[in-house]
Amino acid sequence: MSASPRHFLDISALSKAELRAILDEARRRKDARKGWPKGQHDSDAPLDGHVLAMIFQKNSTRTRVSFEVGMAQLGGGVISLNANDTQLGRGETIEDTARVLSRMVDAVMIRANVHQDVVDFAAAADVPVINGLTDLSHPCQIIADLMTIEEWSGDVAGKTVAWLGDGNNVCTSFIHAAEKLNFRLAIATPGQYAARTQEVAAARAAGADIFVTTDASKAIANAHVVVTDTWVSMGDVDKEAREAAFPPYAITEEAMAKAASNAIFLHCLPAHRGEEVSDAVIDGPRSAVWDEAENRIHAQKAVLLWCLNKI
Ligand code: CP
Ligand code: NVA
Repeated sequence: MSASPRHFLDISALSKAELRAILDEARRRKDARKGWPKGQHDSDAPLDGHVLAMIFQKNSTRTRVSFEVGMAQLGGGVISLNANDTQLGRGETIEDTARVLSRMVDAVMIRANVHQDVVDFAAAADVPVINGLTDLSHPCQIIADLMTIEEWSGDVAGKTVAWLGDGNNVCTSFIHAAEKLNFRLAIATPGQYAARTQEVAAARAAGADIFVTTDASKAIANAHVVVTDTWVSMGDVDKEAREAAFPPYAITEEAMAKAASNAIFLHCLPAHRGEEVSDAVIDGPRSAVWDEAENRIHAQKAVLLWCLNKI
């Protein structure tokens, strides 16, 4: 591996061309294997002989399975580690773990409690490191979300994406993407759970069109894409305060009626039905959440190929 691996830590660190190349590769590979058994490798098996290690400090269904299946489709292998089962759980440093894994595998994905730990891991690693969700951001998710938006609605440029609910890690990655792909992002949160002001300011300074409000109706008005997430993320401790603050931001049919008539609904999942989204919306004709979940596989594959200099 070269001295400067391509880490995938945040969408803000990608160029517009790199983000577009990742999205195009994901789409191309998805189209090329329609109807195939899910474990069959792509015809070119571009990561034959490669191994990915994954470290999880938090629970996961989609991220873990999509990376495992994605690596299998690319011809490579995966080792999945619960952080507490490793020596990290007994105090071995992040940096030493990064140095050792760099000698044993070709890339590492980490889902971490603290974003800085992923940054520190990457700084010590000499293989690519992928952010599989932190308290700050969830860039892999947003690759799948952008892919889904473009499948359902065409080019995301010029569209309005409305984010309602918590200004959390998934919201941060949408903020990072807004400037890269020139869509308008309208964010409505309660004041105490606002999107990170530093991320919003940096994105605006780079040219992003981001509207921030506490009024859910204003954000969702005429939106082409409506997105929400759980009100209580992994690691959040103020569950009761959150459940009191968020009901005005719930995505119901009444809320969707304010969006554009052909608006789609996205949710990274897991969903809390009856809280941030109603059954009627998530199970309704404008819900793209199952495509969004599947697209995690295709997105992960493109991210891996970018990290390993294959695109
Ligand atoms: N959306 C997402 O990252 O799901 P998991 O927590 O199941 O990986
Ligand atoms: N915001 C959620 C996303 C889960 C995929 C969390 O961090 O728990």
